[in-house]
Amino acid sequence: MSHRSFRDFLSVAEQHGLLRRVRQTVDPTWELACLARWPYQALPNESRFGLLFEDVEGSEFPMATGVLGASRESYAVALGVSQEEINETWANALINPIPPVAVKTAPCQEVVRTGDEVKLSDLPVPTWTPGKDPGPYITTSVMTRDANTGNQNTGVYRTRVRDDRHVVINLNPRRHGHNQTNSWLERGEPAPIAWIVAAEPAVHLASVGAVFPGVQEIEIAGGLKGEPIELVKCVTSDIMVPANAEMIIEGEILPGEMDEEGPFGENFGYMSKPGIKPVARITAITHRKDAIYYGFSSQMPPSESTVIQSIANAALTQKILRHDLGETSVHDVHFDLTFGGQAAHGIISMTPLHPGHAKKVGRTTAEVSSLKRITVVDADVDIRDPTHVDWAINARYSPVRDTILIDDVFVRMAMDPSTPIVDGVKMNSKIVIDATQKLEEPVFSLPSKDMMMKALETWKEAGLPEFEIPKRAHLRLDRS
Ligand SMILES: Cc1cc2nc3c(=O)[nH]c(=O)nc-3n(C[C@H](O)[C@H](O)[C@H](O)COP(=O)(O)O)c2cc1C
Repeated sequence: MSHRSFRDFLSVAEQHGLLRRVRQTVDPTWELACLARWPYQALPNESRFGLLFEDVEGSEFPMATGVLGASRESYAVALGVSQEEINETWANALINPIPPVAVKTAPCQEVVRTGDEVKLSDLPVPTWTPGKDPGPYITTSVMTRDANTGNQNTGVYRTRVRDDRHVVINLNPRRHGHNQTNSWLERGEPAPIAWIVAAEPAVHLASVGAVFPGVQEIEIAGGLKGEPIELVKCVTSDIMVPANAEMIIEGEILPGEMDEEGPFGENFGYMSKPGIKPVARITAITHRKDAIYYGFSSQMPPSESTVIQSIANAALTQKILRHDLGETSVHDVHFDLTFGGQAAHGIISMTPLHPGHAKKVGRTTAEVSSLKRITVVDADVDIRDPTHVDWAINARYSPVRDTILIDDVFVRMAMDPSTPIVDGVKMNSKIVIDATQKLEEPVFSLPSKDMMMKALETWKEAGLPEFEIPKRAHLRLDRS
């Protein structure tokens, strides 16, 4: 089962070496974000960690970032499962969502600040790309409520802090949160909104999955956590928010009031252009007595943002293929961790059941995902090991025979800079690579598994350095 609170997760992450503390005073206007970038820009996936800044200049609150999405390992720790169980845990949550339960009192409301006590400058909100962003941005899950149905949506929409009581939200028209806030604005009423800071990890991980409209992420979060998420009513609106969160920022979007948002360092690695977006008035800040502030790191990939989105969207695609479309010969789905699964590279392992089967699965994946490249390999390939995938492509793929190009694909996200926007529309294309073996394969040039394992005894006696046998070697030795 996943963690009950974000602070529980932080302490487990620290025990696993996935969280390190910074005790020095750091400046949130530039220094904090620069430090938070280094693990992602310099360290390999396996040794990356998030940071807990204990002393942020100008704020009483410590601030953590980069922990949920430091790596596949930290994601698994956040869910309380092994790395191999992530896709299955997601599939279970999607198939068996667990509705939340309401509670009357909540840790996230131990301290309630309203009226003059509401000051966003009290919070350790960083400027994420100093010198290029216009100022601090809140980067966390946002909850909205539909005026007609009462349904709630949870998604991450970056939010510029304009002043102590006002923010500008990057709510894009295609997003579910946008539709819900519009349901109020169309009536001429303010739209309630709440920013959820450091709820139990399942809430945040569920909020970035591209689920279908109407699906309430909080129920998926319950499924991921393995028990209902406890929700409490906001103090200034009817939005129900995670009771165990560290902090809730409550607000309302004001009908007709817009302001400039951006430029912002985006998760595709480029600065966005400024746009005009909705303004919200902050109506309350509620928090635990000793709250820890959390903000997702994003910007140049790989980042926490791309890691958590890639993992969620790969798991969603696997569920669609296996469960909704009945492609049960699909074993595993992985999206590269640099683009959040959008315009990215997806790798699928499967056991093709008939000629053309791998191409069919590749084409279907191209249709049901935002991937730009799809590679299909056999089930004997570790799809998270680039060396193994490269070998499979080199050995089993013949470009003219095994490539499918799909043209005239409408692209929703403007940030992929490989194609231009023409008359407000961006088009792109997709490629499917079928790297499954279609011929009788020659025998592998490896000694038998017995011999290789026996040789390890001599390896040990010789005092050679210990290692963990990679999945690639296991898969190959099983066939040798
Ligand atoms: C750190 C981070 C920042 C994000 N910022 C935005 C954003 O500003 N606007 C947006 O539309 N999506 C943003 N996303 C992606 C959405 O949160 C994600 O696609 C989510 O599934 C959207 O939810 P919805 O489909 O319910 O609207 C961000 C994701 C992360 C992890």
